[in-house]
Amino acid sequence: MNKLQRLLQNKNLILTVCAAGIGGTFQYGYNISIINAPTSYIQTFMNKTWLERTGAPLESGVVLLLWSFTVSVYPLGGLAGAVAAGPMAIVLGRKMSLLVNNIFVIVAAVLSGFSQMAKSFEMIMLSRFLTGVNAGVSMNIQPMYLAESAPKKLRGAVAMTSASFTALGLVLGQVVGVRELLGGEEKWPLLLASNAVPAVIQLMALPWFPESPRYLLIDRGDRESCISALRKLRGSSDLEEELEEMLAEQAAAKGQRAKKPWELVRNPAVRWQLMSIVVLSSAMQLCGNDSMYFYAAYVFQEAGIPQDTIPYVVIGTGSCELIASVTCNTIIDYAGRRPLLLGGYILMAGWATVFMVALSQQTRIIWMPYLSMACIFAYILSFGIGPAGVTGVLPTEIFDQMSRPAAYMICGSMLWINLFLVGTAFPFIVVRSQGNAMVISDVKMEVD
Ligand SMILES: *[C@@H]1O[C@H](CO)[C@@H](O)[C@H](O)[C@H]1NC(C)=O
Repeated sequence: MNKLQRLLQNKNLILTVCAAGIGGTFQYGYNISIINAPTSYIQTFMNKTWLERTGAPLESGVVLLLWSFTVSVYPLGGLAGAVAAGPMAIVLGRKMSLLVNNIFVIVAAVLSGFSQMAKSFEMIMLSRFLTGVNAGVSMNIQPMYLAESAPKKLRGAVAMTSASFTALGLVLGQVVGVRELLGGEEKWPLLLASNAVPAVIQLMALPWFPESPRYLLIDRGDRESCISALRKLRGSSDLEEELEEMLAEQAAAKGQRAKKPWELVRNPAVRWQLMSIVVLSSAMQLCGNDSMYFYAAYVFQEAGIPQDTIPYVVIGTGSCELIASVTCNTIIDYAGRRPLLLGGYILMAGWATVFMVALSQQTRIIWMPYLSMACIFAYILSFGIGPAGVTGVLPTEIFDQMSRPAAYMICGSMLWINLFLVGTAFPFIVVRSQGNAMVISDVKMEVD
């Protein structure tokens, strides 16, 4: 409770968190989940467009290929964004990078919004790429910006909000994607273009808040601006101690410049730190939680959940992640990072095992689909409570000011490469397991 009170005293800090989050990692979650609802409409659009252009329809295999390219070009954009984020954060500064970053998403919204009118599905692909670039930049720079702006005692909780905004984006994307809102057949261009709204909100809100004080002092050497930024963020409280600590880091960094990623890789002193973030950011995507949202409806269909309840179940998944990450937010500074990560992954392994058993019994026992569903929810909760948030906080905490952008470039790249791999492989894995399910039901019919 004490922590919450202190957080509430920092009104400006909270508002900064919201302004950075809404156009930042919110977009990552939002854009992952809005692509789920219009799947079949866009596939039809591709087929129709092709028919009008060439006089011949597309085969279903080709449509699927085009679609999986449309989905997977998003993480490729993310990779480009993660790589660009390092130099951007150093040259433009943290806040300015986040602001400039909105250009990508606004161009993307224009492209996808007019794609139907222009009869071009290539515009959707380009738009998804640019949306990915936006997400790649903000996934790296937002936690850095927030953790650098927060007082030491709140650093974990404040940087963790990045994951909460991702989860909020997931849920809102799922809600907006229901048929009654923007999920209808005719409305998909509007749904895809709706990501311009958070971008515009951020462009209006974020300029009112200060740049990261650490960046101002250590990277820019601008003591005046740093003090005024600190004063704005902390209200009236005593700044001496914090300033002293920053000055010490500035003195230590004197004569150095921001490091390049390959310099980090070559430096044996940071090998363990680097290994930790590479393993953790890869694991975060390899566990498949985020790729699941691309195909959420599909997953529940395969788990045997009735068709008409699926949209609500899908919203439930995002809500689970939101609840879990807000919980993680409040406990991270007590519980420590390691127990949350370890505990999260152990629980996830447990649920995955139960899920496997449930799936294999799906056609024999009538309530098994609901056990499968419960497993998916428990899996998401366990992911949200630890790995989802802690992974993004770590690079800020275990690297110094000069190495931080490079460290984020490395772990961001791992994140997006693995999202790309899992996201692309996902439909094929589902088709494989579908094959197995068919075999199981065939066997069952023979037995009957
Ligand atoms: C593409 O459109 C044609 C003609 O409307 C239709 O016969 C075909 O089934 C469609 N293919 C796919 C994969 O939807």
